[in-house]
Amino acid sequence: MKLSVIGCGYLGAVHAAAMASIGHEVVGIDVDARKIEVLSKGEAPFFEPGLPEILSEGIASGRLTFTTDMAAASGAKVHFIGVGTPQQKDGYAADLTYVNAAVDGLLPYLSPGDIVAGKSTVPVGTAAELAVRVEATGATLVWNPEFLREGFAVQDTIDPDRLVVGVSGDGADGAAEVLREVYAPAVAKGTPFIVTDLATAELVKVAANAFLATKISFINAMAEIAEVTGADVTQLADAIGHDVRIGRRFLGAGIGFGGGCLPKDIRAFSARAEELGRGESVAFLREVDEINLRRRDRAVQLVVDGLGGSAFNKKIAVLGAAFKPHSDDIRDSPALDVAVRLHGLGARVTVTDPAAIDNARRVHPQLTYEASRDETIRDADAVILVTEWDEYRRDLTPEHASSLTGGRLVVDGRNGLDAAAWRAAGWRYHGMGRP
Ligand code: UGA
Repeated sequence: MKLSVIGCGYLGAVHAAAMASIGHEVVGIDVDARKIEVLSKGEAPFFEPGLPEILSEGIASGRLTFTTDMAAASGAKVHFIGVGTPQQKDGYAADLTYVNAAVDGLLPYLSPGDIVAGKSTVPVGTAAELAVRVEATGATLVWNPEFLREGFAVQDTIDPDRLVVGVSGDGADGAAEVLREVYAPAVAKGTPFIVTDLATAELVKVAANAFLATKISFINAMAEIAEVTGADVTQLADAIGHDVRIGRRFLGAGIGFGGGCLPKDIRAFSARAEELGRGESVAFLREVDEINLRRRDRAVQLVVDGLGGSAFNKKIAVLGAAFKPHSDDIRDSPALDVAVRLHGLGARVTVTDPAAIDNARRVHPQLTYEASRDETIRDADAVILVTEWDEYRRDLTPEHASSLTGGRLVVDGRNGLDAAAWRAAGWRYHGMGRP
């Protein structure tokens, strides 16, 4: 099928390449000429495992092209909207500028019978408004939220755990059938395919992210209680996680969640609920946000306390900058926030990360960056693990760290290290919510 994908960021670029990899003819469109130039060469403009391979295959096959020219969308049967919906500069609500611009820019190139499939995360009610504009052209609007995780985006797009399509009004059944064809390989595997209305489809997305954020903040709240009682939150998570109704995933206590989705999505959800007169229904999301941000303070406090009450002029090795491993994304990264706060206390902070240094340096040029993990640790007074890359969590032994520095303080912001092993090697180990 001929498809267009408007917006070639983390979501759109992966979607375009993944759709080409399952046999569609895809044009990716973005206003950012630099991004389009990179993608057209079959290269990924950001770090995402597996993406370079499917991009170069797609370009070589001739089925995948990229352009800044919206006119290239004409002739496609389905037009995916995958632009960003960041948090507004002066509030919690989502900024819909890019979604509106993408849809309005696309309107002149739509033909009757075309389908516009929104993938961006939007406040509930947005799709119904867009539908009026889209349907005036004879095209149909559906909402098809995306659940991909950065770091696993290619796999999540080609082989998702569910597909959700929100449709409106007449002709809706036909539109859902076309989407079924688009996702034929996943549908053939029996992937749940849920057809619903526009509002439900929009809500499914924000509800899923709100639930995940709540799960993380729940365990981090338990970490706060563990800290004043001497309990161990990691054992607690293991124990409650054995209950299949609860489940162990997303019960990783530490410095909390960040990234381009969870933080801004729970804030946008709160803002939208307020507009709808139902602010109290999701008032707990404010608490979820606050618990999350408190964990960053806690990590900084553990370092300062461990250094005897002041970080001034101390060399601190910060392991990680990305908001999570397998990503170079530093949007609302708890890791980088902790580094910036320590720097603000007068510490000599050196940050390392396998993928995110360039992005981090652009936003926080005041910090010192070092590509080598070992050089980062060398002569450090304290080491803090803030992104659980295997290089730091699995591969760094306390014996090796001891050979690089005389400092013997390690703060484990992701509860990823073997506490007993570090202590046995003479380190003062501090986890999050662990004795
Ligand atoms: C999240 C959702 O997981 C995806 O399903 C969704 O599609 C995506 O947002 C989106 O809306 O586009 P992502 O932002 O890639 O995906 O990251 P997650 O894997 O959800 O991790 C989010 C944050 O939570 C990270 O900072 C991670 O370190 C943190 N986290 C995760 C914890 O602190 N503890 C955990 O147990 C799990």
